[in-house]
This record gives sequence, C-alpha cells and structure tokens, in this order.
Amino acid sequence: MLKHTAIVGTQWGDEGKGKIVDHLAKKFGVVVRYQGGPNAGHTVVVGKEKFALHLIPSGILQSDKMCVIGDGVLLHPETLVGELTDLHKRVGKLARLVVGLKTQLIMPWHIALDGIAGGKVGTTKRGIGPAYADATARRGIRVMEALDKKRFSVRVKEEAAWNKKMIGVYEKHFGVKPKERKDYGLIGVTDATKIIREYRRYFSQLKRFGVGFADTSETLTKAEKRGQRILFEGAQATLLDITHGDYPFVTSSHPTVGGLFIGTGFRPRELSVIGVAKAYSTRVGNGPFPSELTNKIGEGMRERGHEYGTTTGRPRRCGWLDLVIIRYAARINGLDEIAMTKLDVLTGLKTLKVCVGYRLGGRKITEYPADVTVLERCRPVYRTLRGWNEDISKVRRFSELPRAAREYVQFVEKACGLPVKLVGVGPGRQEIVTR
Ligand code: GDP
Ligand code: IMO
Ligand code: MG
Repeated sequence: MLKHTAIVGTQWGDEGKGKIVDHLAKKFGVVVRYQGGPNAGHTVVVGKEKFALHLIPSGILQSDKMCVIGDGVLLHPETLVGELTDLHKRVGKLARLVVGLKTQLIMPWHIALDGIAGGKVGTTKRGIGPAYADATARRGIRVMEALDKKRFSVRVKEEAAWNKKMIGVYEKHFGVKPKERKDYGLIGVTDATKIIREYRRYFSQLKRFGVGFADTSETLTKAEKRGQRILFEGAQATLLDITHGDYPFVTSSHPTVGGLFIGTGFRPRELSVIGVAKAYSTRVGNGPFPSELTNKIGEGMRERGHEYGTTTGRPRRCGWLDLVIIRYAARINGLDEIAMTKLDVLTGLKTLKVCVGYRLGGRKITEYPADVTVLERCRPVYRTLRGWNEDISKVRRFSELPRAAREYVQFVEKACGLPVKLVGVGPGRQEIVTR
C-alpha cells in the first residue's frame, strides 16, 4: 500500500518541489503544506500555463484533492486571496482548501520589520522572521482569532500598539526606519482600525472562495481513517532549516522532515521521504556556497534553467551539484529516495563536475560542517564526469537517456546510497522520467 509521503528540498530551495508534488499528487487524497509561508515559490507548469504558488499546496490544480495549509505555516491572508483570485480566473475547478485554526498570521508590522536586524541574510522580505519570532514569543495572532470578530479586534489593537512602540525604538535608538512596503500592497503598518478592516475583508473573501477552517491534526487523522494517503509538501530546504541549515543564513522554520510533525500535529505511521535535488546547485540570498560558479558556466545554468526567484525575481546563484550536501540532507531527513530535477539544463556541457568532498586546510572532509564559518573555508573537491549533447526533454524512460546522462544519475545514486526514482527533463508536467 502506498505510504504517506513527504517531499523535502535537499539544497537551498527551488529544487522543483512544486513540480514533483504536482506529479505525485494524483496518487494521494490530501496535499498539505506544513511550514514556511509566502517566502516559498513553487512552480507548476501545465501545458502552456505556469502557476506560481506561494501559500497554496501544489495539489490545488487537481480538483479531486483536499489541500491543507497546516498550522506550522505562516498565513498572509492578502497573498492567499491573491493566489485564489488568480487560480479561479484560470482554472475551472480547484481542490478543496482547508486552513489550520492554529496557523499564525503575518501582520503588516512583520513585513515592515523583516530584514531590519540580521539584514545580511537577504530574506524574501515577507515577514517570515518577525512572524515566527512573535509566535515563539507568544505574541502571535492566529487564524482562530481572526475568525472571531471581537477577539481579533482586541488582539490587533494590542499588537499594533506594541509594534508602534517597537518601531519607534528602532527609529529613535538604532536610526533605522522600517518602511511600509508598497510593492507588497501593504496597508498601514500599525493602523489597527485599518488592519482590522482589511483582514476581515480578506477572511470574508476566503470564505466566499469556499476555504474551510479546521483543526489540521483532526482533518488529517480523519482523512487517513477514510483511507486517504497524505502528501506533505515541503517548502524551503534542508540548508535553510533554522536548526540544521547554514545558520544564520537560514529561514526561521523547519523545512526538514521533522517540521511536518509539529506543523500538522499528525504522526504518519508509515512515511516515505523523497528528497528533491536539482541536478546542479542554486542559492538565492546570502550564505556560503562551496561549489558556486561565478563564471560563464554558472551564467549558462542561470539562463538555461531560468534561475530567477519565483517569489522575489532575484537571480539565483548557480554552481555544480554538491554531493556532500545531498548526503547531509539524506541523513537529516532520513531520505528513502531522491527525485532529481532539471537534468535537461546540463545538456550541452562537455564535461560536468560533481563536488564529492571538501578540502579544509590540508584535510579532506566528506561530511557537511555544522559551523558556517568552517564551511566558508571549505574548497570543493570535484569528480569530472562526461556530458551529453542530445536533447533529453522528450525522454520518458531511463534507458532512453544518453549514456552519459544515465552515468551522471547513477553516480549520484552510488555516492548517496539512494535510488533516484524520478528525473526531471523539463518544466512541464509530463517532462519527467520515472523508474
Ligand atoms: P520549488 O520552490 O522547489 O518548487 O522550485 P521553483 O518552482 O521555485 O523552481 C524550480 C523551477 O524549475 C521552476 O521554474 C520549475 O518550473 C522548473 N523545473 C522543475 N523541474 C524542472 C526540470 O526537470 N527541468 C526544467 N528545465 N525545469 C524544471
Ligand atoms: P521554496 O519553497 C529559496 C531564503 C531567502 C533567504 C533565506 C531567509 O521556493 O524552495 P526568509 O524570507 O525565509 O526569512 O529568507 O531563505 N529562502 C528561500 N530560498 N527558496 C525558498 O522557498 C526560500 N524561502 C526562503 O532567499 O536567503
Ligand atoms: Mg521556489
């Protein structure tokens, strides 16, 4: 019997998790996001249509599914309304969408305060850090409160007043001025009356769209009892995990598989974990990147792979595949298999390099260092593999891939001790090799 399955990013995000989730969703009854927020950007390409999803699980395009935004996610209601409005215009019938009652809200002041401290991370400016900080400090406002008019009004007034003072402190004592972000359609940062009115409007719109609000744990448990399998859609990735990633160049949540237990309140009895690995590496935002290519090869990857952020449009840094990282992700997430995406982007390169270890001073190391300052001193040790020239985008069977492409995949399997069961050969829904 098919197990519940988790899809997690093995690198620094944007591995193609959305596409893999869309591909696998047909076998599952429920698709659930368990952490992160609108900092995510998951692309699903169906025919000529391209969908960029930030909060909505990538199963939304399949009308017989239920999609859940779990309690560990940060909800920005305006973004969700925007996504649903766009989807309803473009797609006939969508999957049912349910939002967890315990889900924390991103408020205008979170966005205004994002990046003020710890600016070197290069965040997506979606309010992620400040919103999770408030949640941990027990000052957050949750979906269940937003559904209760009186309670919401009291809570917003309290928090707006607090944040007004905090912003004043930043301005007066640190000389920094948190700004209202017009590009994000933001409403008055601490204007409680306005915020209450706007957020109420968003929630009314969500209800009109038929969005349900329920306890995530209960929803998933009931689905399981009905015999439905659950697909957990990871957002961000292993190296962006607040505990296990390149701290401090990380996001503020747990994209690793552990995040799904907390983010949903559901313990899958049996779980298969698939790590999505791009055939090369990319990173958006700051932080170490041992196999980064700042030359023509890296630029070529960026252009052929359209490596520009789905959420912020920023150019992604590109480099060779780093197997130290994939092995680390395999360990942290207990991966069962790998889905390799974007193999087609490597087509045309005469030789390919794969990072198999690091040189640190006079030593060679093969395990990912826990300390980011150590990682910054690591130099990649490469193995060189043959490239291929044939267009592989029409290939659907592994045996039909050019020999050098098969060898590339097999090299990864051997080095990581894991099977690569899916291979992406193009952005489209059908452009995938299954084994
Ligand atoms: P996610 O955040 O992990 O879901 O990944 P993104 O959607 O941010 O970035 C992946 C990009 O690569 C998207 O534009 C996808 O449409 C595209 N993509 C996914 N798989 C493949 C593939 O196998 N080949 C190519 N050429 N593009 C792919
Ligand atoms: P998906 O789900 C790539 C990065 C940001 C920044 C750091 C912290 O599409 O793979 P944040 O706004 O979360 O506080 O930023 O994390 N980041 C991502 N990079 N893909 C993502 O999501 C990301 N989500 C956050 O660029 O370096
Ligand atoms: Mg993305």
